[in-house]
Amino acid sequence: MKVKSAVFPVAGMGTRMLPATKAIPKEMVTLIDKPLIQYAVEEALNGGIERIIFVTGRTKKSMEDHFDRDPALEQALEEAGKQKLLEEVNRISDMCDVVYVRQKEQKGLGHAVLCAKDIVGNDPFAVILPDDIILSKGSVIGEMAKEYERTKAPVISIMRVPMDQTHKYGIVEVKEQESERLFRLGNMVEKPKENAPSDLAIIGRYVLTPDIMDELEKTGEGAGNEIQLTDAIKTIADERGVYGYEFEGKRFDCGNMDGLIEATVNFALEREDTREGILKTIRELNLS
Ligand code: G1P
Repeated sequence: MKVKSAVFPVAGMGTRMLPATKAIPKEMVTLIDKPLIQYAVEEALNGGIERIIFVTGRTKKSMEDHFDRDPALEQALEEAGKQKLLEEVNRISDMCDVVYVRQKEQKGLGHAVLCAKDIVGNDPFAVILPDDIILSKGSVIGEMAKEYERTKAPVISIMRVPMDQTHKYGIVEVKEQESERLFRLGNMVEKPKENAPSDLAIIGRYVLTPDIMDELEKTGEGAGNEIQLTDAIKTIADERGVYGYEFEGKRFDCGNMDGLIEATVNFALEREDTREGILKTIRELNLS
């Protein structure tokens, strides 16, 4: 069965990005000329996802507006003859159908995913954390969906991190290598304070099967007193197997300032229309 839906947990407060996120959601912070959420949605659509599910909270209206039509803006651009901008604005609103569900309490990532239970139904689905922006040739979530179709087991994205950073992530243990980028996983621990099982961190891309919802309902509070997605995935790994997909590409944590700056430089260097400008700036700074 194909992976058609993607759940985007977007109810978080974004305190790490204050004051930028005082009046706008953190997912609407821009990376060059697009809000972060648009990068994540485009990755999903490029990967074959058809339905976007936002698990949202209060103060997220601008995000809803971003993917909606804006007749006044469209008319103004039309009258001003700004055809290219008009096309871009229409492209965004025509991009996808979005379904919204409210997460009324902040009880962690596992709880956010559980909020989408009724919408997801009995189908496999993707989860995308828009803080994690990936610069890659193809759609990482699309590649993972293909691995799922082959294995019929959940697939989560993994990446090596420095050992002194493991406390910030879900950390997995590899049982065996299945193919170049695919690994069968064993133990996994959310934000280990010590004795991390490896340096392989979970990154915010998951392809999950609907049984995760039953597990989440049974999962108690874990790290940070929150219901952790990692804990529910671990139970499924113990029972029937879960795969880790070591993706090709650079990942940036755009939920904090350093990560956003790093992403901005890297994306600017990658894009034809911004590459020369940023190279010129760097050259003129004459850094050693
Ligand atoms: C979440 C997950 C964690 C994962 C991380 C990746 O944590 O719980 O397992 O490693 O995303 O960004 P968060 O950063 O939301 O606390």
